[in-house]
Amino acid sequence: MDHSTQFDLELIGKYNQTGPRYTSYPTAVQFEEKYDDAEYRRIAQQSNASGSPLSLYFHIPFCDTVCFYCACNKVATKDRTMAAGYLSRVHEELRMQSELFDDSRVVTQLHWGGGTPTFISHDEMRQLMNKTRECFTLLDDDSGEYSIEIDPREAKGDTIKLLRELGFNRMSLGVQDFDAKVQKAVNRLQSKQETLQVLQAARDEGFRSTSIDLIYGLPHQSLNSFSATLDEILEVDPDRLSVFNYAHLPERFKPQRRINAEELPPPQEKLDILQMTIDKLSDAGYIYVGMDHFAKPDDELVKAQEDGTLYRNFQGYSTHADCDLIGLGATSIGMVGPSYAQNMRSLDEYYERIDAGRLAVFRGVTLTRDDLIRRDVITRLICHYTLTIGDVEASWEIDFRDYFAEELERLQEMVEDGLISIEDGTINVLPRGRLLIRNICMQFDIYLNSKASQGSFSKVI
Ligand SMILES: C[S@@+](CC[C@H](N)C(=O)[O-])C[C@H]1O[C@@H](n2cnc3c(N)ncnc32)[C@H](O)[C@@H]1O
Ligand code: SF4
Repeated sequence: MDHSTQFDLELIGKYNQTGPRYTSYPTAVQFEEKYDDAEYRRIAQQSNASGSPLSLYFHIPFCDTVCFYCACNKVATKDRTMAAGYLSRVHEELRMQSELFDDSRVVTQLHWGGGTPTFISHDEMRQLMNKTRECFTLLDDDSGEYSIEIDPREAKGDTIKLLRELGFNRMSLGVQDFDAKVQKAVNRLQSKQETLQVLQAARDEGFRSTSIDLIYGLPHQSLNSFSATLDEILEVDPDRLSVFNYAHLPERFKPQRRINAEELPPPQEKLDILQMTIDKLSDAGYIYVGMDHFAKPDDELVKAQEDGTLYRNFQGYSTHADCDLIGLGATSIGMVGPSYAQNMRSLDEYYERIDAGRLAVFRGVTLTRDDLIRRDVITRLICHYTLTIGDVEASWEIDFRDYFAEELERLQEMVEDGLISIEDGTINVLPRGRLLIRNICMQFDIYLNSKASQGSFSKVI
């Protein structure tokens, strides 16, 4: 597979509009409140017929301090006792959810995300994992993909050891940038030493995969400063890297109002940083999997991309396409059967539902046949950068050229611009199109022009 990426400024300028990241299709903008907990229960019980494995996502929303760039669903608090009240509801939710799914369905994927999962105490971590084992069938042989997001500032000496004992074997570390001036401007002071200690502990304890999160486009970042951060990161040799694009949307994300827009790198410098990042990481032997993600050539993500089994969900790229995903905790999103379901977003509403003995699902969507077909097309493109028309026709018993006549016509401009080729029954994303994959997928998104979608998405690059 050709992983090369060509940087064409003119084309980026032409196509760089706002668009979804396609961690789901339809996107959350399309979720409706007529999809409620009763509908979720019905679909969850039906899903047992497939016998497919399960994926569990736990949302732990708390953070000790707020990073000004943050666009995650979080609650900033110094009050550590808040975790107990939250976790008691998650335990109850686990019990209610487990009644819906057959015990024979094994949890092959599990993720603690946030906020900051390590905000909770060691005892609370143990109790949460014990309760999970009590309610669901977890793997005991380390063959599952059990991952956690770590803020190195929140990991004590023996936290990593404990997490490994609890069954975690993958982690991602939030770093963002090592530059002192950048760190100060975004209110995230984190020494290189703190990060290295966690990474070393992860290796000593036998974590299978370590990933580092960075963000480009933060205040005071320059080509040189970010290049220096990348050099320092490369020295520690993570298995994967996520290099996210900072989108400044202060009207949507309150903490971002504390970032001075004048200190942000101008668009041209941001693009230069992105180009330098792709070049530097490629030279260092990483493969650009796509959509901000880089991994070593022998990493499971790269292998899955090569053998056509890569998938995309709310945690980004995944190798577990066959799972039903159960979301636990406030704001979490599940994907069960042909549907998406989201939990209540505020803590109060989430607590109220669980305390009333009800699941906290408040909105979602049941996919139509057309949604399923379009999701399949978008997934193939965004994961594998290639689509064999005959495969889609066989899966859905459609005539692709007839079904997508309008889309194929619209794609002609991208063919002429060298972003994609459509030949011999295959749509291929070319090196110039890789950075614009969202825009290519957008051509198959039937909802993009809907009112609900207007103003909901960030710029692609
Ligand atoms: C939930 S946080 C990771 C765990 C932990 N809270 C931490 O910060 O270390 C997930 C990641 O989202 C990314 N992120 C958060 N806000 C972002 C934004 N506005 N733009 C781009 N990436 C963002 C950061 O890279 C962050 O590490
Ligand atoms: S980046 Fe992580 S630690 Fe910072 S506010 Fe967001 S979730 Fe919390």
